[in-house]
Amino acid sequence: MAEEKNVSMPSGKRKKAPIVIGVVVAVLVVAGIGLFTWHNQPSFCGTVCHTMSDHVTNYEEGPGIAHLHQAANVSCLDCHQATLDVQLAEVKSQLAGDTDNLGLADRYYVDNSVCLNCHGGSYEELAKSTESLGAYNPHANPHGELNCNECHKGHATQQDTCSQCHENGGQRMLA
Ligand code: HEC
Ligand code: HEC
Ligand code: HEC
Ligand code: HEC
Repeated sequence: MAEEKNVSMPSGKRKKAPIVIGVVVAVLVVAGIGLFTWHNQPSFCGTVCHTMSDHVTNYEEGPGIAHLHQAANVSCLDCHQATLDVQLAEVKSQLAGDTDNLGLADRYYVDNSVCLNCHGGSYEELAKSTESLGAYNPHANPHGELNCNECHKGHATQQDTCSQCHENGGQRMLA
């Protein structure tokens, strides 16, 4: 009898450990998925980083292309891709209280390739959609390729860059 108990006790313990680990892992996975899903919502940015609530309001009301994209269900993280270096810079700036908007603008700068991923794939391809503007095509002109954000401001009124120096050939900024 006593021998039997000694044998069954350890085996019972051995069975319990994987169950406990399994439960912990399951809880972490569910919490992780929950956090990740929340992270993808605009509300996450406004809640966790309180300095971003202005951007969430702007996304909902405009002006700027962020708002223009809300209707198309394009979210914060579609433009502000969650790469590790960007994520770490965000956490660091929040902890340090270094949340100056101009500073953030550099860090959150949206790369042309992110925009082009959804808009034609290349500048050449995008330029075809506005080729009726001829030499004044904002996407193919004698001055070379500009950053999208020069004209299509994320969270501010669109900038008619070409008209800053001469007539713009009839182009009209959206939003
Ligand atoms: C995840 C995909 C996605 C990303 C990333 C994205 N866009 Fe868009 N964009 C869309 C969709 C969808 C629309 C609305 C449908 C359309 O007009 O093509 C849109 C609309 C637009 C429009 C208005 C077009 C019109 O005719 O009304 C402009 C301008 C624009 N995007 C520029 C940009 C710029 C600049 C960036 C980068 C900062 C960007 N987009 C990033 C998907 C995206
Ligand atoms: C020099 C300013 C300027 C830059 C830089 C620029 N755009 Fe535009 N974009 C415009 C203007 C102006 C229009 C509207 C043209 C018109 O009058 O039809 C436009 C239109 C668009 C449209 C709508 C095209 C359509 O189907 O009518 C998209 C999408 C777009 N831009 C995306 C981009 C992306 C992505 C980039 C960067 C790779 C970019 N733009 C860079 C000025 C610019
Ligand atoms: C269509 C792409 C797009 C979407 C969607 C978008 N942004 Fe932006 N965001 C930009 C661009 C482009 C900039 C660079 C500055 C500019 O052009 O205004 C920027 C800049 C920022 C900055 C830097 C500070 C500043 O004022 O320049 C923050 C913070 C930010 N966005 C947060 C958000 C949050 C939060 C959301 C969602 C609620 C969001 N963005 C949605 C394109 C986008
Ligand atoms: C910083 C000032 C400045 C901006 C911004 C600017 N241009 Fe120009 N552009 C000039 C100057 C100066 C010339 C004349 C240069 C020369 O004679 O080679 C010129 C010449 C041109 C020409 C040659 C034909 C002509 O009428 O002389 C075209 C086309 C043109 N620009 C289109 C554009 C477009 C499209 C944009 C917006 C993407 C733009 N420019 C933005 C300064 C500017």
